[in-house]
Amino acid sequence: MAVDIILGLQWGDEGKGKIVDALTNQYDIIARFQGGPNAGHTLIFGDIKHVLHTIPSGIFHKKSINVVGNGVVVDPVIFMDELKKLEKFDLKIEERLFISKKTHLILPTHRMLDLASEKSKGKLKIGSTLKGIGPTYMDKTGRNGIRVGDLEHKDWKKKYFDLKQKHVKLIKNMNVELSLKIDEIEKLFFESIEYLISSVVFIDSEEFLYKSQKNGLKILAEGAQGSLLDIDFGTYPYVTSSNTTAAGACTGLGISPKKINEVYGVFKAYTTRVGSGPFPTEIFGEIGEKISLVGKEFGSTTGRARRCGWLDLVALKYAIQINGVTKLAMMKGDVMSGINEIKLCSSYNYLDNKVDFMPYSLDKNHTEANLISMPGWDADLSKINKEENLPPEFLDYIKFIEDKVGVPIAIISVGPDLSLIHISEPTRLGMISYAVFCLKK
Ligand code: GDP
Ligand code: IMO
Ligand code: MG
Repeated sequence: MAVDIILGLQWGDEGKGKIVDALTNQYDIIARFQGGPNAGHTLIFGDIKHVLHTIPSGIFHKKSINVVGNGVVVDPVIFMDELKKLEKFDLKIEERLFISKKTHLILPTHRMLDLASEKSKGKLKIGSTLKGIGPTYMDKTGRNGIRVGDLEHKDWKKKYFDLKQKHVKLIKNMNVELSLKIDEIEKLFFESIEYLISSVVFIDSEEFLYKSQKNGLKILAEGAQGSLLDIDFGTYPYVTSSNTTAAGACTGLGISPKKINEVYGVFKAYTTRVGSGPFPTEIFGEIGEKISLVGKEFGSTTGRARRCGWLDLVALKYAIQINGVTKLAMMKGDVMSGINEIKLCSSYNYLDNKVDFMPYSLDKNHTEANLISMPGWDADLSKINKEENLPPEFLDYIKFIEDKVGVPIAIISVGPDLSLIHISEPTRLGMISYAVFCLKK
């Protein structure tokens, strides 16, 4: 059976968790392929709001198997906390959640290194979530890392203390004041390792996923962050340290590219970014504040305010291209109700030349967004339960985006709750108009 992917097309927090949750009943296995506890995927159903950081977003569906893939980096302390928060739901986690033996561990000193690195950068800091992501991936590619499978070997603690020593030296050389105390966090780290060993099954996940596919099981690969935070294709250096794009699903799970079928790209009807880095469509002033307030744009992981901006069609098209997106999910259109004039970026001026593709740098010294306008809508979209009753201006907005990017918006989300969603199958954009659009190009 083929594998489908769900990933973010912007700078993260697009609503991936909700879409995974909404589609999980079509799959047998949900597998996270990269990132770590820098992610915060929110699931809201009825009175329950739950934020997952490492555990795949299919965990609430009792029939699904959930796999943390080799491409993920796991902080056992945060993982333990996540597991404990799920206890009250009686989800039979021990039978349904597996972790790859090749998953790398985030150590307490990785978090300290992250903080030291950000402090030493001063104004040029990345705005990292400070979860130790960068240093852990550095040790992975530097071939120094400790993996979950090592915990089954007696000598793992020696590996740990050797690596810790190396980190401590590095931190000392960085000459920055740190508030984290290694002895305190190390105690909790060892407790959480014991908890991990006793409560989650470690597997050879690539083998497990291969056999599952062969036996006809359907797999959904869940991405974290967004394409513009990809280490290769994002707004470097203001990115995360993994491949957040579709290729990351192959390396992060050991899945052949030939097996990939649908790639669902999730985007907001506008754009947000948390942390530093260029953002050509950022809105300053009243409208930006309104979107932030109505959209509750505060980080699910760090609580930091997210910067808000207009939808950037050039960046969206770029992300669609790199990922081979076959279906789009547009989130949070409800948040834009009441804005009279909606703007979208249709091209950039890069070094004084007009370009309609992603230029080398989005830095404000090199790149400026060219904005176009469309009429907005007023109705409360979260109260409309039939797609055909959605306001014409909203439907025009959708059609305009589909035409510009050439991929159908198959899912429209109009509120945080799992129920506030319109899913059309096979797709919203009729095959005839899609074919005509392709011919016109
Ligand atoms: P993820 O990291 O991509 O899973 O996204 P986050 O969970 O970090 O952020 C998305 C936020 O938007 C969460 O608070 C969701 O509850 C919320 N959300 C998702 N879809 C919608 C929507 O259609 N409308 C509104 N108003 N909120 C939504
Ligand atoms: P989800 O999966 C939004 C951002 C950070 C920072 C940069 C690098 O919830 O969409 P890192 O901690 O990885 O070193 O931070 O990436 N970032 C995210 N922004 N959503 C996320 O995840 C993010 N994960 C990392 O804010 O700018
Ligand atoms: Mg998030």
